[in-house]
Order: sequence, then structure tokens, then C-alpha cells
Amino acid sequence: MTAGSTAPLDYVSLKKKFQPVLSKRVENRHLKSFWNPSKLPDGVIELAGGMPHEKFFPIEAIDLKISKTPFNENPKWHDSFTTAHLDLESPGELPIARSFQYAETRGLPPLLHFTKDMVARINRPAFSDKTDSNWDVILSGGSNDSMYKVFETLCDETTTVMIEEFTFTPAISNVEATGATVVPIKINLSVDRQSQGVDVDCLSELLENWSTGPYSHLNKPRVLYTIATGQNPTGMSVPQWKREKIYELAQRHDFLIVEDDPYGYLYFPPFDPENPLDNPYQSSSVTTERYLNEFLMKSFLTLDTDARVIRLETFSKIFAPGLRLSFIVANRFILEKVLELADITTRAPSGASQAIVYSTIRAMAESNMPSSLPLKELMFESWMQWIMQIASKYNHRKNVTLKALYETESYQAGQFSVMEPSAGMFIIIKINWANLGNPEDIPQQMDKLDEVLVKNGVKLVLGYKMAVSLEYSMQHSDFLRLTIAYAKDDNQLIEASKRIGNGIKDFFENYR
Ligand SMILES: Cc1ncc(COP(=O)(O)O)c(C=O)c1O
Repeated sequence: MTAGSTAPLDYVSLKKKFQPVLSKRVENRHLKSFWNPSKLPDGVIELAGGMPHEKFFPIEAIDLKISKTPFNENPKWHDSFTTAHLDLESPGELPIARSFQYAETRGLPPLLHFTKDMVARINRPAFSDKTDSNWDVILSGGSNDSMYKVFETLCDETTTVMIEEFTFTPAISNVEATGATVVPIKINLSVDRQSQGVDVDCLSELLENWSTGPYSHLNKPRVLYTIATGQNPTGMSVPQWKREKIYELAQRHDFLIVEDDPYGYLYFPPFDPENPLDNPYQSSSVTTERYLNEFLMKSFLTLDTDARVIRLETFSKIFAPGLRLSFIVANRFILEKVLELADITTRAPSGASQAIVYSTIRAMAESNMPSSLPLKELMFESWMQWIMQIASKYNHRKNVTLKALYETESYQAGQFSVMEPSAGMFIIIKINWANLGNPEDIPQQMDKLDEVLVKNGVKLVLGYKMAVSLEYSMQHSDFLRLTIAYAKDDNQLIEASKRIGNGIKDFFENYR
């Protein structure tokens, strides 16, 4: 891989550039295919593939009843739902006979084209050629599956991967399972949106002085894994200026960026203490265009002139996690290598899930919009409208929770601070120790606090359990992560916030 190359990034140059960064296991992965599923001349009787004829399927039709709005409590279903009907032959582009059958590993074309179109509109890669042919999208079985496949493709015992010091821990497990080593990188835990997220000075210094630094025994990093927007667990987002700096560092020190972005669509406008329940999403001035251009953080793909960014998106948080459906965006060469792994392992993600997602979005389009627009436009617009409704609900929940936390006696007594999130589904609460003593006691103290919180009727995640290296992050691992996603309503969030306040007060008064 060369940094900042200006050569045209066609398939041949992508291959030359990225072949050397692949795991050594990649060359052993070959599907030993015993038949070729290509199109046959008319009249040939197909007795090749072990595919059950669709009339063997126990399902002939599926009727979907689709909400027009999340938390739809309107009992008059015909006003508040739209429907989609699928059977063995219809809809023509994705009937059950097709979606429930063995199918292309990369995903079924209708949904695949929809997702690629979505990326092209929102985060078109900077290295894209005119016809969008040097990058692509493949569907996958959830971002967890995506990261497994990506790390399997890029990492082996010689690889060093940098990860934000607190992270979604399965990412660490997936890297380590390849034999690679994870190195934590510092993040600024700050409510200031211009300074939160990856500490770029620290990152620069680490890379610049690698050979004399604490990891000099390791190879220089090949990959940075980042949850740059609405980070898990911190809820923080790397501001645009830092994204540019990180990309420059990636070019200078020649590493790839794996951007895992399950939460990016759930953007939060800043909390207004004077008007805590104000929700800009409810204003008619927040159009799709404004949402896309002024609210959403831009993907690293949009800075990616040399095809070194791999983006992971998922339907888990904006549709439903049980579908196990996600997609990976990358340059065509890397994606082909990821696909080769899928070919011999999972093959295509569930066709039933793909059919449900595609038919839902299509039905939303057909019911919502003026029919003068082409279907492709309608589908994009309707899906964005749905996502904005989800984001609006999350923003409201975040406001309700912050307000309730700020009203607790414990907060007002200064026992904890709240790190207002900028996107996603998490809020972190930092404990303000008057006299902590030894920072090494933090995990033990936090375990005790966890017990006291459960005694007070609320369960959260302990920040230190999401650290890449506790030793590295000990000093500031004294936080709790709560999610606003699973509560059934505002009242439950308010009650939970009160219990958090009571629990922390109880801890300070009786257990320290
Ligand atoms: C950062 C991050 N990546 C990936 C996932 C898993 O996503 P999926 O359900 O698509 O596997 C999560 C889920 O919580 C997450 O927080």
C-alpha cells in the first residue's frame, strides 16, 4: 500500500496496492465449486444445483403490516400502517421463490442496489470513478459478522490494530482471534463537540515515534478501527476537522480505516438546558436534505482519495437487530477478498431478512410519496424519513433522560457529571470522586457501585469493562454507560434516572 497515490484506482491498481495488506490466510481461501450457476441457454433443464423447488417451501405468501411511525399506538391500523404482500411470484423483482432460495453471496440485487445508491448519495467515496465501479457494497449478517470478515481478511499475527481505548468489545475479540494485537488510542471524553473523540495529537505522536514508543516491539499499525459517530460506549463523535487529520495520518503512516457506524443516523442536536425537551427534528424545517447535509457526520469515505476506508453499516439499529442484516462498503479489491470468505462460510445473509427489508422500504415509498417521482427516489426519500423519525424519538429520549438526571439530588450535589452524547443510543455518567485515593481502586469501586445501583433498581454497564486495556485507561474508566434504547417509554427513563441518582447517593453515603 502506498500513501496518497494519485494513480487511477482501477481494479488492477487497487489489487497492486492492497494485496500486500491482506492476511496471509487470504490466499488459502478458495471456494472449490462443483458447478457453475451461470445463465444457461434456453431449453436446458436445470438438474445441477441442490436447490429445493420453491413449491417445497412451507410458506406461500407473507403479508407485512408496516408502521408509519415508531411507537405507533393508533389502534386504527388502516390509517397508521401500510402493507406489503409477498408470494412465490411477486413482487416481480424479489418474490419468495427468489429470496427464500440460495442466492448470490453478495446479496440480492434489489437491496444491494438500494444500499449502494444510498451510500453514493450520502457518503460517496472520494476515490470513486465516474461510474462508481471501483467501489462496491456487499450485504452481510450484521456488523459483527462484517467486522469478523474484514479483520479475517486484513489481520494475522503480524498485524497491529489501533482501537479507541473504550470500544464495542467484540471488535477487540475479533481482531485478537486473528492473532493480531490491539493497541488502545486515547479519546477525549469531553462534551465539547469540537474536541471530543480520538485525541489526534496523541495519535500523531504515537505514530511518529512508533519505533521508540511503548509498542516498538510491534509492527506499525495496519488498521484503525473506529466508531467515529455516536461512539459505543461514549456517545461521542469525532468532529470533521479531526476526521481530516486522522485521514492525513492514515496516508502518512499508511494504515486502513475500518469505520463501524451503526449509530451515525441517530444524530442529536445539542441539548438546550433552557428548553430541555426542544426537539429540532419536529420542526418542518428539518427536511431530508437538511438532515443529510447539516445533521449527519460525513463518513471517512468522503475523504478517501486512496481507497483505504472500509465502512460498516447495519440495519440493526434502524430496522431490527434480529434480521442480522448489514452491509460493508469498500474498494472493489478488498471487498472481493471479504466476499471470498463469505463464499466459504456464511454465504448470503438471510434472504428472508433481505426480502423483508426491501419490501418494507418499497411499501413505505409506495404509500408515502407522490407517484411522479421514480421509485428509486421515492424509496430513498421514504427510508430517510423513517430514519429521521427514529432519530427524532431517540433525541427526545435523550432529552428526557438528561433532564431527569440533572434534576436528581445526587447530580445537584456534584456526585456525578453527564457527558451529553452527540449521536447514538448511549449516555455516559462520570463519577465525581471527592477523594478517590488510588485510581487503581476504580474497578473495585465501580463494581461496588454496580451492586448498589442494582439494589436501587437499575442496571447499567461499567465503563471499565469496555476498555481495550484497563491499565492504559484506568484513570478515566470511572463511568457508567446507560442506553436510552430499550426503555418502554419516557416514564421508564425518568424512573431509571431517579434510581441512578438515588443509587449514586446511596453509594457515596453508605459504601465509601
Ligand atoms: C459499534 C458496534 N458495532 C457493531 C455492533 C453490532 O451490530 P450488528 O447487530 O449489526 O451485528 C454494535 C452493537 O451493539 C455496535 O455497538
